[in-house]
Amino acid sequence: MNATVAERAHDRPLMQTIEMLSESQQAAIRAIPPHDNAPILAIDHKRPVSMFIGDDFFQLEQQRLFRRQAVPITISARLAEPGSSVAHDGYGTPLLVTRDKDGKAHVFLNACTHKGAKLIDGCDVAKGNRLTCPYHAWTFSTDGKLIGAARPETFTNLDKGARGLAELPSREAGGIIWAMLDRHAEPDFSGVDEQLTADFAAFDLPDLHVYGHKTFHLNANWKLVLEPFLEGYHVQRLHARTVGPLFADVPNVVDKLGINIRQISGKLNFTPDCLDIPGENIHASVTHAYNVFPNCVVVTSPYYISVMFLMPTAADKTTVDYFMLTRRPPDNPKGAALYQKSYDMIVSVFGGEDFYAAEISHAGLSTGAIEETVYSGLEATIPVYYGILDRVLAG
Ligand SMILES: [Fe+2]
Repeated sequence: MNATVAERAHDRPLMQTIEMLSESQQAAIRAIPPHDNAPILAIDHKRPVSMFIGDDFFQLEQQRLFRRQAVPITISARLAEPGSSVAHDGYGTPLLVTRDKDGKAHVFLNACTHKGAKLIDGCDVAKGNRLTCPYHAWTFSTDGKLIGAARPETFTNLDKGARGLAELPSREAGGIIWAMLDRHAEPDFSGVDEQLTADFAAFDLPDLHVYGHKTFHLNANWKLVLEPFLEGYHVQRLHARTVGPLFADVPNVVDKLGINIRQISGKLNFTPDCLDIPGENIHASVTHAYNVFPNCVVVTSPYYISVMFLMPTAADKTTVDYFMLTRRPPDNPKGAALYQKSYDMIVSVFGGEDFYAAEISHAGLSTGAIEETVYSGLEATIPVYYGILDRVLAG
């Protein structure tokens, strides 16, 4: 008997046919024109350099973008098991992300309610339903309750119920965990779009395996780190010696999903006919690149998905949490070698090329040589993104 598509999906990591994707994804894929019929789009768009350089715009973004609405924090797959916790420092505020014993995700301020010490540190995921502060051994459950304080008889009136961890409003959907960084602000989860999370669910994002994770500390404004993931103009140039030759120099099919953006493009080997070959892995010929507003990027590759969170800590400093997700851990030497090669390649392309480009742009823009950046029709998603950004900042 022939293997079903689902069975084959387990044989070949992330192998998905077009039918496995959401209707909206399928419609966008079917809207990709053949490369020889791709439109030539010319645009006139400029942005002031002051939005990348200097503290004024950074402070405005911190207040109106990163503190007034929920932002993407991490991936669900980071906390695969109930009773797990991880420290998260990328936004400059020490956070603690947990999955409690019932499977619910939480985001807390990573501060013991005795004297504020960080409960856990480093980037390893802690297993177990209890978190014990290293300082005086106060113990909390992964749902934030204080369950034990050392020598409790030495406190009078210690109200354990009032000494739970400070929790940030959070939401988990489609394999992403969002939270309000300002727990006193009116919670705004309008970025958690139904179509976005349906698309991610179609990729099985919530259930994928974290094959690799790397944190980068970059000397560049976070939007300069983001821009390469909103345009194909650089691909055949910056990536000429690596992945560039795999891609076509044509515009993407772009859709707004609420305030998020989906870009779909046919790789060099794409033809509309290849969509109708039964059992064909759609990720071999089509690339999906999402912006989860404002600062998370999700990109598909034939055998894995890349998710990265671009977190500004200063106008010229960005921390990037990069994750490579596969369907499951490699279970044979050939798979292990393929994954390792893919991981080494993608980390060197993103790190050594895209992030490098962001850093040299930031350095050059800092000279004052130009007052405005300028964008081509092969970068037309960038004005779409900045249109959303402008609206949110003005709101
Ligand atoms: Fe790139």
